[in-house]
Amino acid sequence: MIFDPDDMTPQGRYFLMIGAIVPRPIALVSTINADGKTNLAPFSFFNGLSSTPPILGVSVGTKRGKIKDTWRNAEETGEFVVNVVTESITDPMVQASADYPPEVSEFGAAGLTPIPSDLVAPPRVKESPVHFECRLEGIVELGDEEVTTGLLLGRIVRIHVDDEIIPDGTHIDPVRLKAVGRMGRHWYSRTRELFEKERPEV
Ligand SMILES: Cc1cc2nc3c(=O)[nH]c(=O)nc-3n(C[C@H](O)[C@H](O)[C@H](O)COP(=O)(O)O)c2cc1C
Repeated sequence: MIFDPDDMTPQGRYFLMIGAIVPRPIALVSTINADGKTNLAPFSFFNGLSSTPPILGVSVGTKRGKIKDTWRNAEETGEFVVNVVTESITDPMVQASADYPPEVSEFGAAGLTPIPSDLVAPPRVKESPVHFECRLEGIVELGDEEVTTGLLLGRIVRIHVDDEIIPDGTHIDPVRLKAVGRMGRHWYSRTRELFEKERPEV
C-alpha cells in the first residue's frame, strides 16, 4: 500500500508512524509549574539528538487544541527531567499518561516517588534507574496552519545512573537496565533478547 500523508487523517498518519517507527524509548518527563506543583507524563516521540553538546528531544503534542502541561511547564520554568522507563515502572508510567487536571500530581496518582534533583527544580522518579536533568535549550514549534506540536530540546546538565546497572562505571548493562520500548497501538517491547555485532574495520 502507498500512503500520501497529506491525504490522510491525523489519526491515520499517527497509526502508521507509531506502528513502523519502533521500538521507541519512553521518556517519563517530570516538570513543575510556576506554583511548584509537580507533573509527570510519558512521551515516546523522544530520543537523544546529540551527545556533544548533550541534547535530547521530547515531542509534545496538543490536547483538544491546548498545549499539554509538560510543554507549558517546561516553557514556564525552563527545566525538566527525563526518567527512563523500565519494566518495573511500566504500569505506573501508563497510569501517569491519564488525562489528569493540572492540580493533580501524577506522582501520587501513579504511586511513584519524587526525589530532589541536583541542579533543576523538577524532581526525579526514584523508581527509574536513569535520570537526565535538563535545562530547556529551546522549543521547535511544529504545525501547518497552527502549532500542534512542540519539540522540547533539553540540554542534559546532570545524569544519574543506578550503580546496579553500570557495573564497569562506564557502560550501562542493557540486561540489567530492562528498558521498555513503545510499539504501535497498545503494544510495548522488552529489551531482553539481545545480540552483538562488531562494526567492520576498514
Ligand atoms: C507510552 C506513551 C507514550 C506517549 N508518547 C507521547 C508523545 O510522544 N507525545 C505526546 O504528546 N503524548 C504522548 N503520550 C500521551 C501523554 O502522555 C498524555 O497526553 C499525557 O496526559 C500528557 O500529560 P501532561 O498534560 O501532563 O503533559 C504518550 C502516552 C503513553 C502511554
